[in-house]
Amino acid sequence: MSFDFSTFPVLETERLTLRALSLDDAKAIFGLRANKEVNEFIQRETPKNLAQTRGFIDSITELTANNKGILWAIQSNNSEELLGTIGLRNFETEDNYAEIGYEIHPDYQERGYMTEAIKEVIEYGFSKLNLKTIEAFTHKNNIASITLLDNQDFVLQTEREDENFKDNRIYKLSK
Ligand SMILES: CC(C)(COP(=O)(O)OP(=O)(O)OC[C@H]1O[C@@H](n2cnc3c(N)ncnc32)[C@H](O)[C@@H]1OP(=O)(O)O)[C@@H](O)C(=O)NCCC(=O)NCCS
Repeated sequence: MSFDFSTFPVLETERLTLRALSLDDAKAIFGLRANKEVNEFIQRETPKNLAQTRGFIDSITELTANNKGILWAIQSNNSEELLGTIGLRNFETEDNYAEIGYEIHPDYQERGYMTEAIKEVIEYGFSKLNLKTIEAFTHKNNIASITLLDNQDFVLQTEREDENFKDNRIYKLSK
C-alpha cells in the first residue's frame, strides 16, 4: 500500500470544508496550537510565535508532499474561518494502518463539528486509502475526545499501553 497526496484530497461535509493548510493560516494555527485549553491533554511543543507556526505549517506541507502524513484544516463553510485541524499520520503501509489526531478551537467546541469531520476522514481513510485500522492515542481524562471516539465505535485497547505517555489510552477502529 502506498499513498499519493500530490493532489490534495479536499473533503466536504454539510458545514465544513477540509482542505490543505497554507502559510495564510499561520495566525489561526498559532491561536489553536498555543491555546491552553486545546493543549490540556496533549503533550507537544507549542509554538511561541508566528515564525515557529509557519515552520510547523512548512513541515506539514513537506510531510504531505512525501506522502507520510496528511493534515486537513477544518474550515467553516459559513464564515470561512479555520476552526481546527484533523490528520492521519504514522502510516504503517504494510498493515494498512494510520493514527488519527484532531483539535478544534474552544470557541467552536461542542457543536458537533469534530463529529462531522472525523466521520468524513474515517470514510476517506477506509475507502480511498484502503486503511484497515485507524488508532487514536488520547489522555485517559480527555472526556470530549473519548466520547467522540466512542461514538464512532473506536474500541479501547485495554491490554495495550502508550509507552511514551502512560496516561494515554489507545482506541482502535477496524474497517
Ligand atoms: C476532542 C475535541 C476535538 C472534540 O471536538 P468537538 O467539535 O467539541 O466535538 P463534538 O461537538 O463533535 O462532540 C463529540 C462528542 O463529545 C462530547 N463532548 C464534546 N466536548 C465535551 C466536553 N468538554 N465534555 C464532555 N463531552 C464533550 C459531545 O457531547 C459529543 O458527544 P454526543 O454526540 O454523544 O453528545 C475537542 O474537545 C478538542 O479539540 N479538544 C482539545 C484537543 C484534543 O484534546 N484533541 C484530542 C487529542 S487526542
